[in-house]
Amino acid sequence: MTDDTDSSRSGTKSKKRRSKPYIPHLAEFFFEPTEDWSYDKAKQLYSKIAYSLNDYELDTVQYTECIAGMKTLPKSSIDLIVADPPFGIGFDGKSGVYNRDETLVIPGYREAQGSYAEFTKDWIAQLPRIMKKDASAYIFSGWTNLDAILNGASEAGLTTLNHLIWHYPFGVYTKRKFVTSHYHVVLLVKNAKSYYFNKIENYPEDVWIVKRKYRAGKEKNSTKLPLEVVSKCIDFSSRPGDVVLDPFMGNGTTAVAAKAAFRHFIGFEINNQLKSLLKKEINSVTPGQFFKSYKERLPTIEELAEKYPRAYREYLKQKELK
Ligand SMILES: C[S@@+](CC[C@H](N)C(=O)[O-])C[C@H]1O[C@@H](n2cnc3c(N)ncnc32)[C@H](O)[C@@H]1O
Repeated sequence: MTDDTDSSRSGTKSKKRRSKPYIPHLAEFFFEPTEDWSYDKAKQLYSKIAYSLNDYELDTVQYTECIAGMKTLPKSSIDLIVADPPFGIGFDGKSGVYNRDETLVIPGYREAQGSYAEFTKDWIAQLPRIMKKDASAYIFSGWTNLDAILNGASEAGLTTLNHLIWHYPFGVYTKRKFVTSHYHVVLLVKNAKSYYFNKIENYPEDVWIVKRKYRAGKEKNSTKLPLEVVSKCIDFSSRPGDVVLDPFMGNGTTAVAAKAAFRHFIGFEINNQLKSLLKKEINSVTPGQFFKSYKERLPTIEELAEKYPRAYREYLKQKELK
C-alpha cells in the first residue's frame, strides 16, 4: 500500500479498492524508499565527478554576485538548487529585536538592491538554463515577499510542486499581532513530467517542524538555516554525487549539508567578509560524515509493532499470504 491511502481519502480510487478496510499505519510496515544507497555506494558515486563547471571547481564558493555568477555556469549542470535569498525587508541582521550579540555578527550582509520583485525575477530567471532536466529548486521566503518568489518562478516557466511550511517554535515577540513562526519553502521543478523526487518517508508532510538553533556565543552571518531543513531538501531531491547550487551561500549551510551527504556543491556569496567563516564551516565536516542509508533511518518493524499493534497483526497476515 503506497499512495492508495492518500487517494482513497480524497475519493479518487475505485470502489473495489476502497472496500479494503483502511488500517492506519499499515503502509509504514511495507514502506521502502524509492531509491537508496549504502555508504560505500554513495561514496563511490561522490568520487566520480562526471563533468566540470566551466571555470568553477566543484565544492567551492565564489565571492561574486549570483546573477552574474549563474550566467557563467554551463547549461544543464545543476541537479538541485537551495536558495535562501535576502529578505527584502531592509534587514541588516543586527536589529536589537533579534536579541543577539551584535559583535558576533559578521558585517557585510547584503540586502536585495533596488526593487525586490525585479531582483527576484532576475535571479530566478537564471535557474531553468542551468538546471538539468530532472532538477528541482527549493526557495525559502518569508510571507511578506512570497508573491515576488511565486511570480518570479512562474515567469521563469518553473512549476510549483509543493508549497512547504517550515515552522520554527521561535519568533519575534509581538504585542498586537500574531508572532511569525514559519517560513515558506517553495519546491519548483523544471519539468513537471520528469523531475527527481526520492520518497524516503512513507508520509512526507509539507509542514516541517524544525527548531532554529540559537548558536549563542558563535560568530555568524546574520541568518542561518538549520542543517536539518537543508538536509531534507537534499535528501528528497538529489542523489549521492549530484551537484547542489546555493546562489546565496551565507554561512554555508547548504555546502555543509551537501558535503556531509556525499553531494557536491557550488555556491555564490557577495559578502567576501564571510570567507574565513565559510571555510571553517565547510572544513568542519568530512565528505559523507552524516550519510546514512534511508532504510537505516526508518523505524524498525519491532519499533512499529510496539507503536501500532493492530497494523502489525495485519502486516504479519499479509506477509504470510505473499
Ligand atoms: C539569507 S542569507 C543566506 C543564509 C544561508 N542560507 C545560511 O544558512 O547561512 C542571504 C545571503 O545572500 C547574500 N547575498 C545577497 N545578495 C546577493 C547576491 N546578489 N549574490 C550573492 N549573494 C548575495 C547575503 O550577503 C547573505 O549572506
